[in-house]
Amino acid sequence: MELKLWSFEWFTHLCEYYNVSPEEALLLGTRADGRKPNLPGSISCKSVSDKTYEDIWDEKERKDTQSVFDFYKDQGSWSVFRQCVRHKDMEKYHLDIMTGLTQTGALFQNMHICEYGAGVAPFLTTLMKCIDTNAKMTVTITDVQSEHFEFAKYRLNDIKEKRCLDGIDLIFEEILPEKLPEFNKKLNVVLCFEVLEHVPSPVAVINNMIDRMEKGAVYIENFIKHEVNEKDVDGPDRLSARKEREAYYEVVNNNFNLLFPTKEQSEVNPNITRIWTKK
Ligand SMILES: C[S@@+](CC[C@H](N)C(=O)[O-])C[C@H]1O[C@@H](n2cnc3c(N)ncnc32)[C@H](O)[C@@H]1O
Repeated sequence: MELKLWSFEWFTHLCEYYNVSPEEALLLGTRADGRKPNLPGSISCKSVSDKTYEDIWDEKERKDTQSVFDFYKDQGSWSVFRQCVRHKDMEKYHLDIMTGLTQTGALFQNMHICEYGAGVAPFLTTLMKCIDTNAKMTVTITDVQSEHFEFAKYRLNDIKEKRCLDGIDLIFEEILPEKLPEFNKKLNVVLCFEVLEHVPSPVAVINNMIDRMEKGAVYIENFIKHEVNEKDVDGPDRLSARKEREAYYEVVNNNFNLLFPTKEQSEVNPNITRIWTKK
């Protein structure tokens, strides 16, 4: 499968969907201490203004899973702008991953690739921007109900339409508090980038995924290592996830072989992105 670059700018869809200029998009997605951006609304969310990210979290008591899931709706377009800016200079990295998958035979006709906790779906957006127009595959993104998920749907649909990617079957799987995604077809590649620290149970996520992955499937993931401190208060980086990190990697090690990096590099750099194949 040939990978070609295709020219949609990182801000193209932001400007269309939110009626902002590229400069405004950059400002709205750039981190700064204590910032309270005036985030635009859209057909799928209300505007959010004059609040820090922490203010939005603190608006409700987020003790149960539903109220934590609601946080991703309550923040409006915050993560849309943030994630687009975060990934705008990472397109080369996305492409390196896709090229590696192609070279090892992991991207093939009629395969199923999924971005889990996709947000604005940075990796699969790059794939859709550059993939050969004759490609046939199922492309699934999953996330909780949120504006970033709505934006990802809009952006992937638009790229599919403009590039006439008729062989790409786009699937959007919403994750509910008590229901992990089921997928209607076995998975060949799963990308889970900067997600696991936010889910209530990383062990439940990986066990659910293992059952739905083909033997030899590629799993690309990372999981920020926070110290477990009983005095810590809960936030978007979940305490429950933090406590399960070790158990999660035990399940991964039992069911996958590490392709990248080496075991030694992995041990000295806990936050590194790892590439595994299913046993
Ligand atoms: C830091 S963002 C990363 C988004 C995207 N993977 C990226 O690389 O830009 C964390 C993502 O995890 C998602 N998320 C939060 N809770 C989740 C859950 N329980 N299951 C799946 N995804 C979740 C958020 O909605 C958000 O899109």
